[in-house]
Amino acid sequence: MRILVVGGAGYIGSHVVKELLNTGYDVRVFDNLSTGQEINLFEKAEFIRGDILDVPALEKAMKGIDGVVHLAAKKAVGESMEKPDLYALNNLNGTINVLNAMVKEGVKYFVFSSTAAVYGMPEVEVLDEQTPLNPINFYGFSKKMIEDVLSWYDKLKGIKFVALRYFNAVGYDKEGDVKGLEKNPQNLLPIIMETIFGVREKMTVFGSDYPTKDGTCVRDYIHVSDLASAHELAFKYLLKSNESQVMNLGTGSGHSVKEMIETTQAVTKKKVAYEMGARRSGDPAALMAYSEKAKELLGWQPKHSSLENIIESTYRIYQKYF
Ligand code: UFG
Repeated sequence: MRILVVGGAGYIGSHVVKELLNTGYDVRVFDNLSTGQEINLFEKAEFIRGDILDVPALEKAMKGIDGVVHLAAKKAVGESMEKPDLYALNNLNGTINVLNAMVKEGVKYFVFSSTAAVYGMPEVEVLDEQTPLNPINFYGFSKKMIEDVLSWYDKLKGIKFVALRYFNAVGYDKEGDVKGLEKNPQNLLPIIMETIFGVREKMTVFGSDYPTKDGTCVRDYIHVSDLASAHELAFKYLLKSNESQVMNLGTGSGHSVKEMIETTQAVTKKKVAYEMGARRSGDPAALMAYSEKAKELLGWQPKHSSLENIIESTYRIYQKYF
């Protein structure tokens, strides 16, 4: 079975490629290397440099393909509010181009990289897939729109999909095969690492008056290798059941920002220079996932998501650079 991984040179995409190769698939990567990196490519996977806005290039890449994983997207929440046009074009139009190329080449199976950002600021702390979708940023809205488009392409064009709503993706593969550091990272753990290594003088904890165990925000941090295994299992599921699904991917337990900083200090034996600051707008106090559906339908289990493992694997990669 040959899978096209669109966005396969990115942080999550390269972990997905590794998992697919390890489980015996042939893999072709399609990536424009705008945020993806050459260093993340695997020798055993074919690589085509191309953009999802380039329809002829996409159609060419789709030849001889049995299924698609699509992760190519703009994903900075703040930027999405300043440049909705960019997010509409890349995320929505780009995905529709991928789907149309699939229809043209008769490719039926699609695994989509969605996000917990589709839920927005929910009233509950632990979310299942029935929790109402109320995105509060254009990034989350773009992913929600794509999920809607997918349902229609299922009905009208017979595309069978699994949309995976990732919670907070963190960590690096155990063997250290994925080596690229995200440029200009916006997320908590890379920011903690950059602070340890002096790229940043200090970091700010956004809010210490939340109704949580220590006043700082709680999130569900899921190891990227656990996310990766769900993509492979999603293909198996699609082949077997031929039914489209939407699924959360998280561990079901949460860690506070303070806990992340303190555990990093304990694991790395390095000081993290931080100060308490104001809340960041749009941050819910706590977000965790019910992932029973993925466990039941895919037989998925997170295996790498202990806090120590997440921090150690990230620290190991940063140590190579600094
Ligand atoms: N945080 C800080 N200081 C920082 C950076 C982050 O205190 O310098 C805090 C945030 O306030 C938040 C937590 O660390 O409470 C995690 O923040 P991230 O920015 O790493 O992640 P988010 O939970 O905000 O968002 C992540 C992804 C989004 C995705 C969302 C889904 O970055 O792309 O999860 O819930 F949409």
